[in-house]
Amino acid sequence: MVLPPKSPNESKAEMIVRMFPHDANPAGNVFGGEILKQIDLVAGLVSQRHAKTNTVTASIDRVNFLRPVYVGNALILNARITYVHRSSMEIEIRVEAEDMMSGKRTLTNTAYVTVVALNSSGKTMEVPPLLLETEDDKRRFAEGEMRMMQRVKERAKG
Ligand SMILES: CC(C)(COP(=O)(O)OP(=O)(O)OC[C@H]1O[C@@H](n2cnc3c(N)ncnc32)[C@H](O)[C@@H]1OP(=O)(O)O)[C@@H](O)C(=O)NCCC(=O)NCCS
Repeated sequence: MVLPPKSPNESKAEMIVRMFPHDANPAGNVFGGEILKQIDLVAGLVSQRHAKTNTVTASIDRVNFLRPVYVGNALILNARITYVHRSSMEIEIRVEAEDMMSGKRTLTNTAYVTVVALNSSGKTMEVPPLLLETEDDKRRFAEGEMRMMQRVKERAKG
């Protein structure tokens, strides 16, 4: 079946979440696991917007925590599809922390999440290809393809 291509702009998302004391250690540093949870959530949202079916996280590439996020900050996650294969989609997420008093934003993480589309029987299913409208879309897609090939190699190693 040939599915009509869809632009990454159709599914991209910005998610803003306020960080509270239960998200952090006693010194007020937000847990890495909380940030990973938000990354996973927004990747699920974008992939489901694209695929219009249930999607599950297959892998999250190495995530570095570049700067601390503190209680009271707003976590701003900008996510978009960069690459699509058959059933898998790569979502790029850029995470910033906003200090609500000064308005200053700091880049805290960039993450790549691979999400797989499942049909109603829980089997992997084909998703629409990407409509690459800009040079930037094409560059992201080519880079995503290289990362996907690297993941396949790493999985083969076991
Ligand atoms: C992800 C999952 C569906 C893959 O199933 P599978 O039987 O291994 O499927 P396949 O080997 O046929 O691979 C299907 C696709 O997933 C991709 N894939 C599988 N494992 C992957 C991984 N670890 N990282 C990246 N991509 C992966 C394959 O490259 C393939 O992509 P393509 O269809 O675009 O070519 C399965 O491993 C699973 O259900 N995992 C648990 C998911 C989960 O519970 N996530 C947390 C809750 S959301």
